[in-house]
Amino acid sequence: AQNERDSLFIVLGFAGKFFQDQLFENSEGKSIGLSYFKERGFNEAIIKKFELGYALDEWDGLLKAAKAKGHTEEMLLKAGLILKNEKNRVYDRFRARVVFPIHNVSGKTIAFGARTLRTDKKEPKYINSPETEVYHKSNVLYGIHQAKQAIRNEDMCYLVEGYTDVISLHLAGVENVVASSGTSLTKEQIQLISRYTKNITVLYDGDSAGIKASFRGINMILEHDLDVHAVVFPEGEDPDSFSKTMSSEAFKTYLKEQAQDFITFKTNILTDGGRDKDPSNKVKVIREVIESIALIPDGIKRSVYIKTCAGLLDIQEQVLITELNKLLIQQQ
Ligand code: UTP
Ligand code: MN
Ligand code: MN
Ligand code: MN
Ligand code: MN
Repeated sequence: AQNERDSLFIVLGFAGKFFQDQLFENSEGKSIGLSYFKERGFNEAIIKKFELGYALDEWDGLLKAAKAKGHTEEMLLKAGLILKNEKNRVYDRFRARVVFPIHNVSGKTIAFGARTLRTDKKEPKYINSPETEVYHKSNVLYGIHQAKQAIRNEDMCYLVEGYTDVISLHLAGVENVVASSGTSLTKEQIQLISRYTKNITVLYDGDSAGIKASFRGINMILEHDLDVHAVVFPEGEDPDSFSKTMSSEAFKTYLKEQAQDFITFKTNILTDGGRDKDPSNKVKVIREVIESIALIPDGIKRSVYIKTCAGLLDIQEQVLITELNKLLIQQQ
């Protein structure tokens, strides 16, 4: 019910404000949380822009404060902010972590992601809110509220994996960016972006998981008739870490100059930047690229990309068209 959603927004807003207060006013928050963000290069302006916070190393830090303000355990549970154990005791979900609030398009807090400060890998790096009445993970893009105007203005949206990638792009002066937050890109997320632009540039992490996810994401984007480019980052770097290795200007130039159309991107990766000249690999690359082209609904776009592919992979266009048509018939 609308009533219940409004109550959830209120308790989530309270929690967001509470985590922010801990970061700036509590001694543990300042010495642990705020110093962590500063070490990562986040200044106060960007911390406030993204409403970042800190959850104390306590079982009931939020629980107590929320109850004192009249919020009920029932609402805290429904908002995903507290958990209940076997003995029916309730306790805070987010503890001893820095907190990233997740907003809907209109800027209401609907969920949180929270990062551990431990380096021992004994617990998950990020803990996120569960699905709730107001948070359907597959419909949400982190940063959309802060990005939507810039996406319209630039008529392009950068897509990254993580919270800190979004924030570091803003720090570098790039505001048209959202994160799929580790989950594989969904149809709903693409539809959300397409309200603002038909152009996406994928900036996934420079590791095998990131490359795999970018291949899948590219195909999804093509199926929805959006234009897609991608940028490769050096092995082991993500947009956040890579941005820290150079000036903002150099980073922005890198993003612009390294953005490749999906055919060039896939071909480069699958041929090791053109170094792999093995014919049987080339056959695989061509098939892989045609499979992507076959997903594009628009026939004119398909024929333009077939031309690009023929040039890039040095193969007759007619051969590609024949193979493409076989795939198109199979799809029907
Ligand atoms: P990454 O592992 O690439 O983390 O996951 P990151 O964003 O670079 O984080 P830092 O720089 O180490 O702090 C990408 C995204 O996947 C989700 C988060 O949204 C994260 O930002 N994720 C990752 C989780 O939800 N849980 C995890 O345990 C790990
Ligand atoms: Mn719902
Ligand atoms: Mn990653
Ligand atoms: Mn990453
Ligand atoms: Mn990172």
